[in-house]
Amino acid sequence: MQLNKAIFIASGLAIALSSALAFSEELYSGYTLLRAETKEMQDDDFMNPGMEAVGKGGRMFATQGKKGVACTNCHGEGGGKLDPKRIAKYPVLDSKTQRPITLQQRVINCWTDQVGNAPLTYESDDALALEAFVRNLARGLTVNVQIDGDMAPFYEQGKQLFERRGGQYNMACNLCHDHHPGQKLRAQVLSQGHTNGMPQYRLESGKVIGTQTRVNQCYRSVRADQHTPGNDDYALLELYMNARGNGLKIETPAVRF
Ligand code: HEC
Ligand code: HEC
Repeated sequence: MQLNKAIFIASGLAIALSSALAFSEELYSGYTLLRAETKEMQDDDFMNPGMEAVGKGGRMFATQGKKGVACTNCHGEGGGKLDPKRIAKYPVLDSKTQRPITLQQRVINCWTDQVGNAPLTYESDDALALEAFVRNLARGLTVNVQIDGDMAPFYEQGKQLFERRGGQYNMACNLCHDHHPGQKLRAQVLSQGHTNGMPQYRLESGKVIGTQTRVNQCYRSVRADQHTPGNDDYALLELYMNARGNGLKIETPAVRF
């Protein structure tokens, strides 16, 4: 752990422990904090490296599986019969389990149950490609996760996970992303930690990652326990994370440092 990071965390903790908490008021995407070149890269489909995953997802979408059908058979060429407004609402309540289901879990389920392929590992390159293709259909729409009614208790549980302290530094997500956005942390400026661009391309690793991998990267950075993507707690956390970005525009595939 780098020294300035440790200092940041220690001071963050001290501030968080004091009663006067300064929440940042306005909602903004991590995009706002990007350098001009990176914004340009994200905005131009020919330059955006995340579009490779979208393209791959598109090809998977049109490929027949063991049941002799492809996604296109039920959801149209290029996903034309999927409703982008509905995609913008994920995670939604799964009618079967009566629990929140993430968009990635939904495409994994259809891949296996409807098309008849071998299951995809959550957050694997293939699962991310398929999710990126589907969420890209909703690019430009507003994140619109339901948080009332049936979803209210799950939203509350997700919020508790976001605010739960743990790990060697006794940190929680909100201590960085609610209390300190705008603050410099090593080479990066801390954002509000939104998911509106997920799955996204990261310049640092040259990889496309999803929300739950990013959660693990943040947990690792504060030496807290990481969990297996796709588990139930992570679905609740993703529900809360997407919902706290309600009103932001979907950017998938975003480009981030
Ligand atoms: C045989 C028809 C069929 C095929 C093939 C199929 N799906 Fe589905 N898909 C469904 C049904 C039915 C639902 C609704 C499931 C539910 O609500 O429980 C669904 C739901 C979805 C949704 C959520 C849509 C929404 O409005 O919430 C997405 C995204 C999706 N499928 C993606 C895919 C992908 C990606 C593939 C290919 C890997 C695929 N589907 C293949 C039948 C199919
Ligand atoms: C020590 C501070 C710290 C903590 C605690 C922390 N993060 Fe982060 N997080 C960062 C930094 C630094 C980045 C990269 C710069 C940015 O986008 O904020 C980041 C990025 C993110 C992003 C990507 C934002 C984007 O625009 O692409 C998400 C999502 C995120 N964090 C979620 C979480 C979650 C969930 C937790 C709790 C499990 C958490 N973070 C805990 C520091 C932290």
